[in-house]
Amino acid sequence: MLNDAEKILISEDELHNIVSRLGSQITSDYKGKNLLLVSVLKGAVVFMTDLMREIKIPCKIDFMATSSYVGAKSTGVVKIIKDLDEPIEGMDVLIVEDILDSGRTLSYITSILLKRNPASLKICTLLDKPSARVVDTVQPDYVGAEVEDQFVIGYGLDYNEKYRNLPCIAILKKEIYQNNGSKE
Ligand code: IMP
Ligand code: MG
Repeated sequence: MLNDAEKILISEDELHNIVSRLGSQITSDYKGKNLLLVSVLKGAVVFMTDLMREIKIPCKIDFMATSSYVGAKSTGVVKIIKDLDEPIEGMDVLIVEDILDSGRTLSYITSILLKRNPASLKICTLLDKPSARVVDTVQPDYVGAEVEDQFVIGYGLDYNEKYRNLPCIAILKKEIYQNNGSKE
């Protein structure tokens, strides 16, 4: 799988440090609150399972699934494929995302969740690609690392459902996705 990568961007060790830093911040910020972690399937699953174990206060978890990407190109259309199991009224909801790119997915998800009257709603994203932002109303509250506008894979992130099980984050070689749609 790593043959398809241009280079490793964030190693396993670096990911561990990033996730434990975020976990400690969340632990102190959410003491005494009704923390509900909402993860966006499937990309954020690896991050979610590591992050929740770095959070040392009680919390609940739930999952949502949306779809907006075909290959490496955003279609610009976001739809809900799986909704949350439980109501979120009165909960301190923290959305756990893999990557904030154009911002369309999180803008759509936050607008839907805000209508359900959570006590609070914040965003924790492992990666942030600020230069790719199209919807600038979405601001992440917790960011693991900023990345350039390149297509990254691994640690849950895929290209056409592949590479999610890479333990690090790597940049995908352009020739792999160029024939199936580019970022332009
Ligand atoms: P947005 O709606 O454009 O912000 O895109 C968010 C979703 O697109 C993420 O949750 C990812 O699933 C996917 N995505 C965006 N950029 C990348 C990337 O570089 N690699 C893999 N998936 C990506
Ligand atoms: Mg995703």
